[in-house]
Amino acid sequence: MTPATYHRASRYLHWAMAALIFYMVFLGWTLEDKDGGLFSRYQMHKSVGFLILLLTFVRIGLRVAYKAPPEIEGPKWQMAAAKAVHIGFYVLMIGLPLSGWALVSTAKVPVPTLWFGVVPIPHLPLGHDTHEVFEALHGLFAKLIFYVLIPLHVGAALMHHFIHKDDTVTRMLPGLEPKPTLLQSALNLRWLVPAVAVVGAFVLATFMMRGASVPEPAPVAAPEVVETVASAEPVTSEAASSTESASSSTEASTAVPVWTVSKAASYIHFATTFNGEAIKGGFGSYTADITFDPQRLDQSKATVVIDLASVNSGDQTRDDTLKSDSFFNTAATPKATFKATTFSQTGPDKYLAKGRLTLHGQTKPLDLPFTLKINGKQAVMTATAKLNRLDYGVGSGEWTATDAVPNAVSLDLKVTATTK
Ligand code: HEM
Ligand code: HEM
Repeated sequence: MTPATYHRASRYLHWAMAALIFYMVFLGWTLEDKDGGLFSRYQMHKSVGFLILLLTFVRIGLRVAYKAPPEIEGPKWQMAAAKAVHIGFYVLMIGLPLSGWALVSTAKVPVPTLWFGVVPIPHLPLGHDTHEVFEALHGLFAKLIFYVLIPLHVGAALMHHFIHKDDTVTRMLPGLEPKPTLLQSALNLRWLVPAVAVVGAFVLATFMMRGASVPEPAPVAAPEVVETVASAEPVTSEAASSTESASSSTEASTAVPVWTVSKAASYIHFATTFNGEAIKGGFGSYTADITFDPQRLDQSKATVVIDLASVNSGDQTRDDTLKSDSFFNTAATPKATFKATTFSQTGPDKYLAKGRLTLHGQTKPLDLPFTLKINGKQAVMTATAKLNRLDYGVGSGEWTATDAVPNAVSLDLKVTATTK
């Protein structure tokens, strides 16, 4: 026996998914429009996109498991067109998330996807050179669904309802009997379901547009002027914070916070080995100028200057060697400077500072991923990184060989800072 309506779950899913798709198209088109909350909007876009993919499979499963109502009588071309549009929807409800997934997986700077902030979704194993193809495809699919399929589909539904006055729309509505009068339909609470879904999606979309929905880190930190700690050996780099890029936003009226480092709770440490023996050290004197706001990464910046002669590895002779022209040559190049010029957010509390490190007279780009936790007016930034000392010419003569002192030096940074 063929049923008079679609399966109850299919009916609810139809309207919920229609609302989600509208929301996604508008969110997609406005992803970059606002300064603030860019990271959140992308995460939301990806999360809802994967939800749509999942629901599409559920919906196809229901469609296969339960019979659909019989085709509405009408000219053959109309029945064929309806079928084509429906199949087109299914193809795009799968094609849109897959092309989105592919374009995210092939991006030059892959940003991890955490499904609704909880489940990590891996990237697809695709080459970077396909990125532009998937990007174009994703945009094309969105245009196709929005400008072609939806108008045809909605137009046909309205035609059935208001001109032919048949049951086409009614049998897709969540609810009970398939044949209410027009007045009954209008009064019937069933209309509330799609209406609430659509209104809800737009409210959510508006909320998202303001960057308000997924909380984004508050004001951030990084040092201002410091000196601190530690012990030890060659190489530098450092500190936290940085600049520009990615998301962010709003309140352009207030100044980007300036952060002052708490010396006692911060350090610039490094680790290496000497003939297999672990050596840990650090720099006791450094300064840091940091203006940083996670909401305004494009206006954030940081410069850290390390006094290399303050190296402390727990052994005076070794420290003298480090300061000599065999390593840092502090007489000629007393300072190491890290200037962070671009900041981006890579996850909750996670950032990437891109900048340049000048050490031993050599300047090279340095990427510093870091974690930043902000609690009111206090922020704690931590980072670990690896640096090749020979890229900066640190270690001359016999020290250019890496058997005694390896090329890679690990850095371990912590900056605790406060703002007013
Ligand atoms: C039904 C699901 C989806 C719809 C309707 C949708 C829609 C859109 C739209 C309309 C755009 C703007 C395209 C443009 O400006 O040309 C867009 C961009 C984007 N979408 Fe989706 N999307 C969906 C799923 C996904 C998924 C699952 C992901 C990732 C996992 C994703 C990732 C992206 C990205 C990264 C962009 C920005 C592309 C760029 O920078 O040009 N989307 N999406
Ligand atoms: C993004 C938005 C939408 C999508 C993706 C979509 C998708 C679909 C699909 C795939 C079907 C076929 C179900 C099946 O046979 O398996 C369907 C049926 C239907 N849709 Fe939509 N729809 C959307 C929006 C709408 C809107 C806004 C309306 C009404 C104004 C509507 C009214 C209907 C009706 C009445 C049917 C039943 C058609 C029939 O029984 O032959 N849809 N929709």
